[in-house]
Formats: sequence, C-alpha cells, structure tokens
Amino acid sequence: MGAPGAGKGTQAKRLGRARNLPHISTGDIFRWNIENDTPLGRRVKACIDAGQLAPDDLACEIVADRLTEDDCRDGYILDGFPRSRGQAERLSEMLRERGESLDLVINLEVSDDEIVHRLTARRTCPHCGRIYNLLFAPSEDGVHCDRPTCEGVTLVLREDDREDVIRERLQVYHSVSEPIIEFYKKQGKLCSVDAMPTDRDAISATIEDLVNSAPASCSEGTTS
Ligand code: AP5
Ligand code: MG
Repeated sequence: MGAPGAGKGTQAKRLGRARNLPHISTGDIFRWNIENDTPLGRRVKACIDAGQLAPDDLACEIVADRLTEDDCRDGYILDGFPRSRGQAERLSEMLRERGESLDLVINLEVSDDEIVHRLTARRTCPHCGRIYNLLFAPSEDGVHCDRPTCEGVTLVLREDDREDVIRERLQVYHSVSEPIIEFYKKQGKLCSVDAMPTDRDAISATIEDLVNSAPASCSEGTTS
C-alpha cells in the first residue's frame, strides 16, 4: 500500500524478482486494457485519466481472475489493491475461499510534496514496464529504455502523471484508500516503511527484512 507514487511498483517488482513471485498491479492491468482498447479498458479510461478510482467490482474481478492463474499457487504480491474498504473486505473473502491468509501489508510512507516531485519526473517503458525517473533514476540517455530487448523504445509519461491529476489522485488516496491502513493495523498485518529516502536499495532491504520476519515484524511504528 501507499499513496500514488510512493514506490509501490518499484519495490513490488524488486520483491517479486527476489522471491520469484508474481507482481500483480491492478493499475498495470487497467492500463494494459486501456492501451489495447478492450471493453474493460473503455469502461475505466475516463475515471483513471481523471485520477478517480475504477469501480470496486471491476478491480475485485480482475484480481480474482488473475489469482486463478498457475503462477499464483505459491504466493503473490498485490500492488495497488485493495484501495477501498469494500475491496479490502472482498480480498478477505477471496483469501478465505482460497484457504490462504495475508502474510503482510507493507505501507510505503512518502509526503505529498515529494510525490508530486517524483511523479512529474516518472517515465515508463511502454514495452517492458520498467519504471525510470528523470531526477532519481534516469535511463542512460534519459529518453530510451536501457534493456537490450527494448532497443530504441521511447519512454513515456503516464496520462495520469500531470500535476492536476496527481493532486486529484492524492485526494482520493487520503479519503478512500488511507483509511484501510487502520483495517490492517487492527489485524496486526501492517508494517509501515519510511519510503522518503531516495536510496531504493535501502528501502528494498528494509522490506526484505520485514518479509523475512513476518508476521513478527508487524508493528504500530514506521521502519526506516
Ligand atoms: P496505479 O497504477 O496503482 O497508480 P498509483 O497508486 O497512483 O501508484 P503509481 O503507480 O503512480 O505509483 P507507485 O507507488 O507504483 O510508484 P512507482 O514505483 O512508479 O493505479 C492507477 C490508477 O488505476 C488509479 O488512479 C485508479 O484510477 C486505478 N486503479 C488501480 N488500482 C485500483 C483499484 N484497486 N481500485 C480502483 N481503481 C484502481 O514510483 C513513482 C516514481 O518515483 C518513479 O519514477 C520511480 O522511479 C520513483 N521512485 C520510486 N522510489 C523512489 C525513491 N525511493 N526515491 C526517489 N524516487 C523514487
Ligand atoms: Mg505503480
């Protein structure tokens, strides 16, 4: 969990690679559907472009579907889901139905001003999904993806990374998504991590430690 731009995608991808677990980002799935002009993409495009949440039932349906795939048998990392009380309750039901339990909820903490700063400088590879940042983690030439398999692919700015839309997303986050932190705190599943430092490796190491010691690592405080 974490506000838009807190580093969920960056850290979830790293954790997924380190643990060989699938990284499931509802935002990425919605964006794929928008880019490919699917019926789902057409339904959610306007609200996503405006910085609003997609309807709960659609978000829950895509997660429920994705979890039926084989690669989720030994676990998975959810990024950007759940982000409303309704989604959190539906996830509890899905887990019950699957005979699973949540290991840990990692909440990345970053100030709103830092988020605006980071997101206006984010660039993403439309081919492989790698996330760059013009200020903190640029590609070699600042324009193209560095991966050999993406030679010549130009990095793009996400439609919802304009400052007015970022402010709207932050407002939605504080009013609808942030309250579910309490829901997971009460379950003793929440770990908050200080994600303000620009050293991503240090943040990844903190997360790795928390995952290794879960559930004992869950606490009320913030880990740096
Ligand atoms: P989603 O794609 O999930 O967007 P988000 O939550 O707004 O988060 P972001 O992806 O923008 O940021 P992030 O936390 O992944 O940060 P990142 O690692 O990229 O959702 C998009 C939209 O889809 C939503 O607005 C909503 O409409 C819809 N949606 C999605 N899920 C939904 C759901 N469950 N229900 C309903 N609607 C849903 O990092 C950001 C930048 O910072 C990058 O440039 C990165 O390089 C840089 N960075 C990362 N870490 C650091 C660091 N430590 N220091 C400096 N820079 C850093
Ligand atoms: Mg993301």
